[in-house]
Amino acid sequence: MYRIVKKKELAKNIKLLEVEAPMVAAKAAAGQFVILRIDEPGERIPLTIADFNREQGTITMIFQEVGYTTRKLGELKEGDYLADFVGPLGQPSEIEKYGRVVCVGGGVGVAPVYPIARALKEAGNEVISIIGARTRELLILEEEMRAISDELLVATDDGTYGHKGFVTDLLAEVLRRDGRVDRVWGIGPVVMMRAVAETTRPFGVPTIVSMNPIMVDGTGMCGACRVSVGGETKFACVDGPEFDAHLVDWELALRRLNMYREEEARALAYHTG
Ligand code: FES
Repeated sequence: MYRIVKKKELAKNIKLLEVEAPMVAAKAAAGQFVILRIDEPGERIPLTIADFNREQGTITMIFQEVGYTTRKLGELKEGDYLADFVGPLGQPSEIEKYGRVVCVGGGVGVAPVYPIARALKEAGNEVISIIGARTRELLILEEEMRAISDELLVATDDGTYGHKGFVTDLLAEVLRRDGRVDRVWGIGPVVMMRAVAETTRPFGVPTIVSMNPIMVDGTGMCGACRVSVGGETKFACVDGPEFDAHLVDWELALRRLNMYREEEARALAYHTG
């Protein structure tokens, strides 16, 4: 059993959970994820790691309550236990000294961007971070991101804070302004990651996205998390979750996402209706 040592509401329907899992914390690296289950009969939920503390043996996750299971997870309190907590899964981000890097996070995607940006900074990169949300109240980790970035830019769709518009508007500005950008990370909703890919493509800047499709076993067995990258089928749980944004088949990723969205809506209606 894995104890919840901290719980915080960061924004409406966006919660932070810090869980005691020393074995996972000992090995965790930026870019990886865990799969947890609230109780024995429960659904397995993959969540990217937002932070880890090796000394205290804890893993922090930030998630949005979007369906039945994440709502149930959001109802747990400090001191409660999770039945299962498996990880770290997936490949860690490739952290090197690239030079100047841009880290883009949209919505709850700012959470997995945070440890990546921090690791890139520690590796000696100049880190420009761009974070965004629909509206100011939904913006998360601004201070944390500012503390580890050389420059932080903010966008909100409705203009209640920072630039009015999309994170990709700011990304295009940075690419034009700075001439040389060595690598870009983009994590957020699929449509946002596709927009990041299309923004950097004409500049020829290597771009990494973190795909977060439906996952079931998390070990490459079930095929639920397949994505098409460079014409090859890959499993996000073992080959990813990070992939070359310019090689991802975005049309397919969006189609698969919509397929599951209908099923999730049915599950929610079934459990709450
Ligand atoms: Fe089953 Fe990736 S979650 S293969």
